[in-house]
Amino acid sequence: MARNRPQAKGSAGARGKDRAKDRAKDRAKDRKAPPGRSKDGSKTGPKIHRADAVQSPAREKPSATARPDRAAQAERPARHPPALGRLEERTALLLETPADRDYALLDSGEGQKLERYGDLTIVRPEGQAIWQRQLPPERWQQADAVFTGDTDEEGLGRWHFPAGQRAETFPMHWDGLAYWGRFTSFRHTGVFPEQAAHWRFMEAGIRTWQAGMDASGEPLRLLNLFGYTGIASLVAARAGAHVTHVDASRKAITWAHENQQRAGLQDRPIRWICEDAVKFCEREVRRGNRYEAILLDPPAYGRGPKGEVWQLFDDLPHMADLCRELVSDRPAFVILTAYTIRASFLAVHELMQEVFGDRAGRLESGELTIATENSGRRLSTSMFSRWIAPHSAGEKS
Ligand SMILES: C[S@@+](CC[C@H](N)C(=O)[O-])C[C@H]1O[C@@H](n2cnc3c(N)ncnc32)[C@H](O)[C@@H]1O
Repeated sequence: MARNRPQAKGSAGARGKDRAKDRAKDRAKDRKAPPGRSKDGSKTGPKIHRADAVQSPAREKPSATARPDRAAQAERPARHPPALGRLEERTALLLETPADRDYALLDSGEGQKLERYGDLTIVRPEGQAIWQRQLPPERWQQADAVFTGDTDEEGLGRWHFPAGQRAETFPMHWDGLAYWGRFTSFRHTGVFPEQAAHWRFMEAGIRTWQAGMDASGEPLRLLNLFGYTGIASLVAARAGAHVTHVDASRKAITWAHENQQRAGLQDRPIRWICEDAVKFCEREVRRGNRYEAILLDPPAYGRGPKGEVWQLFDDLPHMADLCRELVSDRPAFVILTAYTIRASFLAVHELMQEVFGDRAGRLESGELTIATENSGRRLSTSMFSRWIAPHSAGEKS
């Protein structure tokens, strides 16, 4: 069934030449080692590919004039026809990250949230907190760090340290895994705590998949797209996966690499790739590389290292098609998270049904939330949809 979508431009001959050029480029790039291996097959330390890349801060909004690759988008092939079937589905799930020793949402209200990161309490803007605060003002005033200044989600803003200056980085843990938190100029801290719900699911899914494959001893190959500071990559590597981590920001990849050292996982097979996620996936499809598990956590807006523009609403459908091509014939799961307020979780759910609907397994979709410590209040942070293949039961929520 054909979709009502613009077809690729250019004659078949021209496209054929382009593909031949692509294949030649791919062959050159193919000489790169697989995860954790050098060309001769020996083990290597962590290595960042594409060291020429520049920084692209998380969720940075591109300027309206800079859209160098919109033309490239018009050249894309037609979308894959929609799946004829539908996966069994569970919707409107609220996956909750509870308070623990390492992180807690202490309170929220009046456009801000009060969080505990290890020993530090931090106040940051929170657009969803349209309610009143529950903790007394003194608790808020005792915060170690307060993000102030520009309250625009994409703004630079500044940090204040009422109880005395702090180092830029601070030690953090998740489930025994050590990493670095950081006061970034974009208000972020290097971790999205609500992702813990996915990390637990993913760990369980990797273990279940590997238990089913014990006879072959094959490791699960996991692709982490828009991987940021790498916590999901480290959790997956700790569970035994061979990880390919892709992010456009060299600074984020350097930080992820530091996290790998801090977690003591430097011997685990993680391939760090600094590249535009769409371009990387297009090349992986052409090269025939496949993965059993894919994590996909794109920002609403972003930039590749060469100025490639990522716009969630324009680019996610093509990216979902690429992920469909990239899953191996023994798939475990595909997890998509979207941080945008212009859509319902049903939008990402239906996209995933369209792409994976005729595969086996089930689809679960809803929102990621954080539970407030000592209160029934929940803060929604993002929407998600995950395809769970029969090879990976994952953790049922
Ligand atoms: C929302 S963060 C991902 C958070 C991460 N999954 C986590 O849980 O910590 C978005 C990331 O996408 C990266 N990014 C933005 N545009 C990109 C692009 N075109 N290709 C690859 N990565 C991109 C940013 O550098 C940023 O690190």
